[in-house]
Amino acid sequence: MCGITGYLGTLPAVSTAINNLKRLEYRGYDSAGVAFISPQGLRVCRAEGRIVNLESAIKNEQAQSSVAIAHTRWATHGVPCEANSHPHRDCAGNVAVVHNGIIENYAQLRQELTARGHSFSSDTDTETLAHLIEEQLANATQPDLVTAVRDALKLVHGSYAVAVLWAGMPDCMVVARHDSPLIIGVGDSEMLIASDITAVMKYTRDVIVLEDGDCALVTREGATICNLNGDRVNRNHLSVDWDDTAAEKGGHAHFMLKEIYEGPRTVRETLRGRLTPEGLVNLNDLGLSAERIAAINRVCLIGCGTAYHAGVVARRFFEQLIRQPVEVHVASEYRYSDPILDENTLVVLISQSGETADTMAALRLARSYNAITLGVVNVIGSSLAREADARLITQAGPEIGVASTKAYLAQLTALTLLGLYLAEQRAPETASLQSEVRRALSSLPEWLEQCVALAPQMDALSAVVAESSGVFFLGRGYDYATALEAALKLKEISYLHAEAYPAGEMKHGPLALVEPGVTVVGLCTQRTTFDKMLSNLKEVSARSGAVVALIPNGQQVPENAEVTIELPKCPDALMPMLTIVPLQLLAYYVALRRGCPIDQPRNLAKSVTVE
Ligand code: F6R
Repeated sequence: MCGITGYLGTLPAVSTAINNLKRLEYRGYDSAGVAFISPQGLRVCRAEGRIVNLESAIKNEQAQSSVAIAHTRWATHGVPCEANSHPHRDCAGNVAVVHNGIIENYAQLRQELTARGHSFSSDTDTETLAHLIEEQLANATQPDLVTAVRDALKLVHGSYAVAVLWAGMPDCMVVARHDSPLIIGVGDSEMLIASDITAVMKYTRDVIVLEDGDCALVTREGATICNLNGDRVNRNHLSVDWDDTAAEKGGHAHFMLKEIYEGPRTVRETLRGRLTPEGLVNLNDLGLSAERIAAINRVCLIGCGTAYHAGVVARRFFEQLIRQPVEVHVASEYRYSDPILDENTLVVLISQSGETADTMAALRLARSYNAITLGVVNVIGSSLAREADARLITQAGPEIGVASTKAYLAQLTALTLLGLYLAEQRAPETASLQSEVRRALSSLPEWLEQCVALAPQMDALSAVVAESSGVFFLGRGYDYATALEAALKLKEISYLHAEAYPAGEMKHGPLALVEPGVTVVGLCTQRTTFDKMLSNLKEVSARSGAVVALIPNGQQVPENAEVTIELPKCPDALMPMLTIVPLQLLAYYVALRRGCPIDQPRNLAKSVTVE
């Protein structure tokens, strides 16, 4: 996501903070900014685009300071532009805040602050924090930045890593975290802060990793850490021995692996603020009126590659939940079709980048029929986010590995929320399925952590798969949709031939390909088809294919499977999110064993902006 750096010490603070920010450029961002305290008071400089633009802008400032905080922004609330870039200030311009994360109750806080006379200069959730801190300082008899930040954060729901400067205490900064990473680097008469260890490694390897609920006063002498009630807490120092390249990837060998590990957090962020206290889905910001939703009589889901596979999962889910016809299309086919569309069709375009040429062409085609268009998209300022009638932003943050992993999970999460939202409004007959899925949603991140922990097992399994002459992924229903994505992942990064089949189709042809050396991965997570899957896998064993089975915990282990992977048990409709994680890991480890350039597979690009 966004990047934060800060510096306090004897070096020029502004240029040091900006140089450290460059170490976080790989994450992707759309604007950058810095705040510092000069003899003239608190100053802020921001620029749209690359960090070099910020460096040119700051050249005109007298940026002499021993303390600075800096930020690269990846837009989540408000389009990418200078006004929405961090740092954000209070009304008086004495407080500056940089923030990663999402303030869920920002709309209400903003309304209340405006009623109390505050004026806002951005569309961001972050700016509310600057005004809240301003109020806490104004209301205190002996204003103190740490207390003000703590008290302001008590009013906030959501996730944050924040760093704050105040002109009233020019020799310190205050930082805090909840559900968003932040570290403090301890140097020799200098202190650094950052959202990622990489950013401070040039100056120190002595690091304090803050934990959720921590708030720290950072001065040149060190850091004093408390919880939000002001009780002192001690955190151990960590000695970092990573080399520079590994550091960028959070200690992982490749971005793809790092991004698989970020899956649970991505899902948590995409769900954040989307469930009301009553447990219903809140997508009111989509901007689709109740009348428009009531008029929908058909849904089309459209995407390419992995995004299309998210649509294949969602088609089944939507049909089960909203009991109306739902279609799923590959965008490159759809754009040249002669579609049956009208103003009562909801067309959902799914895309990580929001720039895929075929998906954009499908969007424009749908718009020409006056259909209702909705983008499920990861990049807020992208063409899809701008041109669709409505947008649902997935919260995966920048995805660097060419093979999509965490963005797929974010797409499935967003589509699950959308399906529930539509069903709540128009399909009372599926209320019990709706509540079964809603109840399970909050446990999803935890189950996903358990799936990520299967990495050593998938590594071991990859030794066999890497030697296979070919791989089949078989499944029924939701499992077939996951099989499609699993096969794509394996072939695109390991260059091993892989195919997905609906398990019942094998005997209509592809079974002829099964022979010794072929691995068949059976996805057996669906209650209604479990026994059928076992029979299909027996047909494979009878032809000497090696069988690997994925089953939910507690299910009968297939006797003919050479390896069985057990997954957490959850409602069938959510199993695709869990099942894909070990299969992403399998693809990763197979590619590693085959010596493939995992983050940049041959012939592929991250954003396919040509036809
Ligand atoms: C596969 C992969 C691609 C993309 C596809 C669509 O791992 O990443 O198949 O899913 O090119 O890209 P977006 O989602 O940016 O439209």
